[in-house]
Amino acid sequence: MKLLFGVPALALAVYVFASTLPEAPTGFDNKTNGLVDDATHAADQAKFDEIENVPDGLGPLYNGQSCRECHQNPTSGGSSQVSELRVGHSDPKGKFQDPEIPINRGAEIIKGRNLVNDRAICPNAAFPGTEIQERVPDSERIRTFRVSVNLLGDGFVEAVSDQTFVELAKEQCKKNHNKICGQVLYVPIVEAPGTTGVGRFGWKDQHASLLSFSGDAYLNEMGITNRLQPDEVTNLCNTVSEPNDTPGPDGLGDIDHFARFLRATEAPARDDQLATTPKARQGAELFDKVGCIQCHVQTLTTASAGTKINGGTFTISGALAEKQFHPYGDFLLHNVGTGDGIVQSMTEHYGKKMYQITWRNLSIPAYESTANKIRTAPLWGVRLHSRLMHDGASVTLLDAILRHRGEAEHVTEKFQKLKPSEKEALLEFLRSL
Ligand code: HEC
Ligand code: HEC
Repeated sequence: MKLLFGVPALALAVYVFASTLPEAPTGFDNKTNGLVDDATHAADQAKFDEIENVPDGLGPLYNGQSCRECHQNPTSGGSSQVSELRVGHSDPKGKFQDPEIPINRGAEIIKGRNLVNDRAICPNAAFPGTEIQERVPDSERIRTFRVSVNLLGDGFVEAVSDQTFVELAKEQCKKNHNKICGQVLYVPIVEAPGTTGVGRFGWKDQHASLLSFSGDAYLNEMGITNRLQPDEVTNLCNTVSEPNDTPGPDGLGDIDHFARFLRATEAPARDDQLATTPKARQGAELFDKVGCIQCHVQTLTTASAGTKINGGTFTISGALAEKQFHPYGDFLLHNVGTGDGIVQSMTEHYGKKMYQITWRNLSIPAYESTANKIRTAPLWGVRLHSRLMHDGASVTLLDAILRHRGEAEHVTEKFQKLKPSEKEALLEFLRSL
């Protein structure tokens, strides 16, 4: 990288040109951001909305019948109140271990994942005696819920270069004198075996690619095997041959439609009416001043057209290239005192064969250090969330703020020292996002 006056050229590009780059389109109107035409986007959305049943490959273990079931507020691709269950335990050395979940009266043990599916297709007419409902044994003492997240605008997040996040983490740590130092985590790109990218999706940054996430969600949320995740969690009650997701006449599988749908969504729009009030404007300044902005970064920019990401499998084009957008998040992992103690399961997210592949830059110790970290929740669209924080356990914005400890401790203290009217202004600003 070229150095301009000692500052990496890219970092300069990010900060100097952010204000002059075109804005990513926003809205909740189901329109495309321009990546595809409206008809293609509507057809991709229909796949995202589609309800799957047992003959389609649903289950045997699952959480929901369609992507929309958990990602729909206020429209397809948004968030929802639905939460999922993750558990595990510590080994004698204090390391997190995935749980062992017995099913079928103990005849089979589910291992290699920390998600516990809330639903099962059995017992049913074809298998009346097969009991596969997952239930948590008392010995799995580490337990958490994770609430569904917003996906609208994620195409822009995917199109931010790895280097931008690396620079952001460095700058953040320096600026805050090592008090706030977000972690960059390299994660496998499942569709490009051997390659990795900077994780940015999921509460633990478990994926960098929307296609990888789609394959993961199709299997782990709906039980539908696909070319990226070809192995069922259990073969009990399983009747449809693998992979359940087969290419259509256009050569695309459902996971390709999901990824393209998400890439083509507009970013969440603000409440313009509220955003322009003096109170919300004052709140925005205070958000900056007390230091929320250090992690809840206002503006990011996407890479230029022609940039290859996801191990070279996806090329950024016109609609996604060189845009600025306002996620109010850094997509980095932080310990703000709310950690759930869970380390992501490799085989759950990247497939049962992931250990047969050598992945560039993949570091198991780096993964283990995330046990008590959570990705900064991007605050775009936060006004549409009734349950906050990864576990959905905070139901007011104020409660969510006051839970911030750890790296955010000194920021929370500054917030608490604000006058009541200033606190109210900051909350009003959040209600405009
Ligand atoms: C039962 C609810 C549920 C269903 C069904 C579901 N999801 Fe999700 N989704 C979640 C939850 C919960 C998270 C956060 C998971 C985590 O990080 O632990 C999430 C996260 C995501 C993310 C990460 C987005 C980001 O910005 O961090 C993507 C992408 C995603 N889901 C896509 C899908 C797709 C595609 C489908 C359909 C194949 C789907 N989801 C089905 C609940 C669901
Ligand atoms: C050190 C980084 C950091 C700082 C500083 C910080 N946050 Fe956060 N924020 C996070 C992380 C990480 C989460 C997710 C925590 C979790 O889910 O357990 C979060 C979550 C939130 C949420 C919940 C959003 C949702 O969708 O659930 C709100 C609201 C929020 N922060 C507001 C603020 C405000 C206001 C400030 C300043 C007073 C602030 N944060 C300062 C990192 C930070």
